[in-house]
Formats: sequence, C-alpha cells, structure tokens
Amino acid sequence: MHAKRLDHIEPFHVMRIITRAMELQSSGVDVVNLAVGEPDFPTPKLVVESGLRALREDRMKYLPALGSDELRNAISRWYRQRYNVGVPKNRIAITTGSSGALLLTMGVLVSPGDEILMADPGYPANRHFVSTMEGRPILIPVGPETDYQLTPELVEKHWTDRTIGVMVANPSNPTGTSIKQDILKDIHRVVQANQGTLIVDEIYHGITFGVDACSSLEFADDIFVINSFSKYFAMTGWRLGWAVIPDKFIGSFEKLAQNLFISSPDIAQRAALAAFHPDSVGECEVHRASYQEHRDFLLAELREIGFKIPVEPTGAIYIYADCSGFSNDSFKLCEDLIESAGVAVAPGLDFGVYRANEHIRFSYPKPIPVLAEGVRRIRAYLGR
Ligand SMILES: Cc1ncc(COP(=O)(O)O)c(C=O)c1O
Repeated sequence: MHAKRLDHIEPFHVMRIITRAMELQSSGVDVVNLAVGEPDFPTPKLVVESGLRALREDRMKYLPALGSDELRNAISRWYRQRYNVGVPKNRIAITTGSSGALLLTMGVLVSPGDEILMADPGYPANRHFVSTMEGRPILIPVGPETDYQLTPELVEKHWTDRTIGVMVANPSNPTGTSIKQDILKDIHRVVQANQGTLIVDEIYHGITFGVDACSSLEFADDIFVINSFSKYFAMTGWRLGWAVIPDKFIGSFEKLAQNLFISSPDIAQRAALAAFHPDSVGECEVHRASYQEHRDFLLAELREIGFKIPVEPTGAIYIYADCSGFSNDSFKLCEDLIESAGVAVAPGLDFGVYRANEHIRFSYPKPIPVLAEGVRRIRAYLGR
C-alpha cells in the first residue's frame, strides 16, 4: 500500500490524452498535438556544441550540490544584464529543472499541515509539491477580472494561522497571463506582514509579448525565485533550472539538495554555460517572435470559433480557453477532440478545480500550418 500522502497526488490527466495521441499516431493516424507544454524549437546550437565538447572531455562527475561556480556566476551576470539587478552567486542554486527547485523550496519551507496559497487555475505540480511535504495547497479561484492571478486582497482574505507562504507564476501556466509589478509588490507586502514567504515562478520569463516581465528580484531579496532553462532556452530534456534563495534559507536548501540530488547533471550545466552567449540569446529571441505570431494566430482563430478568451495571454506558450459554449465537461471534450478530430489539447481538470470543466488549454509552439490544420479540424468537429 502506498504512503498516505499519495492519496492527495493526482496524475497529469493530460497524459491520458497524450498516450492516446501516441497510440493513434503509431497506428498511422495523423494527430495535431497541442497538449504538450514544451517548445518545438531545438536547443540553441552553441549549447548543444558545448554539451558535446563536455562529453568528449570525458569527465562527467558529481558537482557541488548548488551547482558549478561557472554557471552560478553566469546566471548572476544574466540578472545584471537582463534586469539590471545584482544577485550574488551564493544565492543561486542550480537544480534539475525548475521542478527540482520547486521540490527543494517546498522541502525547505513546508512542515506537515502548513498551507501555501496559490491560484486556481495553476501549474498542476505546484499543489503536489506541497502535498508531498504533507502541507496543504490552498487553491484560490481566480478569473479574468484579476488576469487569472492572485491579488493582495485575495491573499489577505485566505491567509490563516496555518499559512506560511504564497506561490505565484508570472507569466502563468495555463493562462499565459502576467502579474503587474505593483500588484506583486503589494502581495509581497502582505506576505511579509504575515511573516510568510513568497515564491515566484519565473520559468516563462523571456517568452513575453508586448510586456517585459519584471523579476521580483528587482524589488526584494527575501523571495524564492524559480527559473529554468526549459522554456526560453528550449532545453526541456536537459533537465536544468535554478532557484534564487533568500540568504537565511541557503544552508537548508543546500543540505536538502545534497541529500535528494547530490548535484544536477554535469553535462547539462556545462552545456548551459553557452545559453547566455549572444548567439544563443539571438536564437531564443527569434523563437520568442514566432511564439508571438503563433499566439496571435491561434487566439484570433479560437475566438472566431467561439471559445471565450477574455484576457489576452501576454506570455508563456498557452491559451486557456473557456469552452462552455460547446461543453460543460472539458475532459470529455478533450477525449472527443482526440478521437474524432485528431487534435490533442489539455483538460482544465489538470490545472485545478475552479471552472475546470469549462476550460481547455492549447499549447501553441507548433508551426503555423500545423496550428491551422488543428483549427480546421476543430471547426469541422464543432460545426463552426
Ligand atoms: C509554471 C511551471 N513551472 C515549472 C515547470 C517545470 O518545468 P521544468 O522542470 O522543466 O523547469 C513548468 C513546466 O511546464 C511550468 O509550466
């Protein structure tokens, strides 16, 4: 019998859709896959070359638990260059994806019964990182009126004597909406006033359109900031991310990282050194421009079909669409779309409970002709 904490952990429901998509594909059916949340672009060339060079040197070893000095310094320089903010190397921890950073952060902060506030809809794993530590994720329903983000008022309203922190993703998965700097600062004030900790997931930084996502490090140094090479740098499979840790938690974070991971992959860390090279950043900026084109295309098409998308996503790689005009069972709609239209999308159910049955998520890093084919099939299926 599994441990009790597993009772509070749900699978990624979208995996059922993705598995079905793979089955259909292997039996020769062409599927338009808009379910998976990852860039379609290859990893920047210099990063791959740097990884290959590292392999040839044949000295893949354990590294310090918080990462190589070179990469931690490179990230520190990146904060100076990109945000004009000073983040000392010793506050930067390299992790196995931002998933590693989130697990360690929750491991450091959460005792059994502690509550962490987060937006519903939100990234599915967040609530499960908290449950794994036997804490209680408190899902706060958010909608278009707050750009699907938390506000200081909502945080204040849901704060109890068990609350120890708040988790925000900027921009958010699944809604692609950002949080304004002033609102984030006010949330931080509320959290501080209650002696809690703010955790800000900035994994989609770099992939924003028309707004420059500001880092919370620009105004505070007592926030956990989570980031990753996965999305902007198109390195999902390299499993590399980082956390910027408030001074007082560095020791605890390090000892937990030593025990749970020993270190993050040597090859990925050496490859990632080339991610900040101007040529790599140049490639990522080209990707960013095409993500914007893809968003513009899909947003207009989905709205025309009749999906309600009241807030324009300003970043990430997703559109979270209200499908209540077609179905009040979004999981069933996802199943029908894969079976009858050959289009895979993610059900709202994965992202929380609030109006989850009325929403589906489209992940749009695909060439425009693929998106157009997906739209054509959805139109045909819905008779639009
Ligand atoms: C908001 C958010 N945070 C964290 C992650 C984890 O990504 P990774 O572990 O690849 O950095 C994801 C992945 O989709 C995400 O959407």
